[in-house]
Amino acid sequence: MSIRLQSQTDRLRAVLSELRVAGRTIGFVPTMGYLHYGHRSLIERSRDDGCFTVVSVFVNPAQFGPDEDLDTYPADHDRDFELSVASGADLVWYPERTDLYPPESQTMVKPGALADRLCGVSRPQFFPGICSVVLRFFNLIKPDRAYFGEKDFQQLAIIKRMAADFYLDVDVIGCPLQREADGLAMSSRNARLAPEDRDLALTLYRTITEARTAYAKGERDAEALRTKLKEGWPQGIELDYLDFREPVLLEEVATLAADTRIFLGAWLNGVRLIDNDALT
Ligand code: PAJ
Repeated sequence: MSIRLQSQTDRLRAVLSELRVAGRTIGFVPTMGYLHYGHRSLIERSRDDGCFTVVSVFVNPAQFGPDEDLDTYPADHDRDFELSVASGADLVWYPERTDLYPPESQTMVKPGALADRLCGVSRPQFFPGICSVVLRFFNLIKPDRAYFGEKDFQQLAIIKRMAADFYLDVDVIGCPLQREADGLAMSSRNARLAPEDRDLALTLYRTITEARTAYAKGERDAEALRTKLKEGWPQGIELDYLDFREPVLLEEVATLAADTRIFLGAWLNGVRLIDNDALT
């Protein structure tokens, strides 16, 4: 029997502390809901690792800018519960804002240089907001393992850094990016794409494929390839960034290597799209 908790933080903590005493390993999958297979793959991984699997569904206001889609972020709590349970979740928690940010709460996390690049340039509130909610979650749930997708590769790197910097007793585990059959990176926000925009949304994946092909053919000059790919970028989709970076500190590289990743961010009629992949 899976447990569904709306708010009820005390009950959440009581259930988890009993499980901990009983020796269960607790796996945690934080989400903002409107689940798709990308989320489900994280839940399945936690289940397959033998964890008592906790999924949270919370659209975290702290990571949204004033002009962003906080109020229109898609939601379907019943469906999220069904999909979570079908994927192996034992407990799904829907906290209220005040469970995580009571009126007296003040403290926010300020991540370092990893957060000032890529998505951090156009969305300065994004990673401080994410770290601040994830640290609250970690301290309430005390998971042994927490699962994050490589779809948000920068987020994963920043959370790993935060866990190390604050000596958090949690294993942060990265899981592969899941794509639709046509290559589009799965995202809750894809539900907001107009049908006629779907093809333009594939620009990110097409660009990744082009970069990988160029690398396979021997291209090693990051700036030359970046310029070429930007020249081919179509009208109607606004490019935020297209960068080649190494996978640990996310520093830009001059010479492409097998572990170099391409990172893309864009907006399509107000819908935020990101994607990334290794060149091999
Ligand atoms: P959300 O966008 O709902 O994503 C929740 C988790 O699912 C993240 O770890 C994300 O990387 C992963 N995910 C999303 N799409 C994926 C895909 N196509 N393939 C693999 N994994 C995917 O990321 C957040 O929420 C929030 O920032 C959160 C961490 C919950 C903090 O508010």
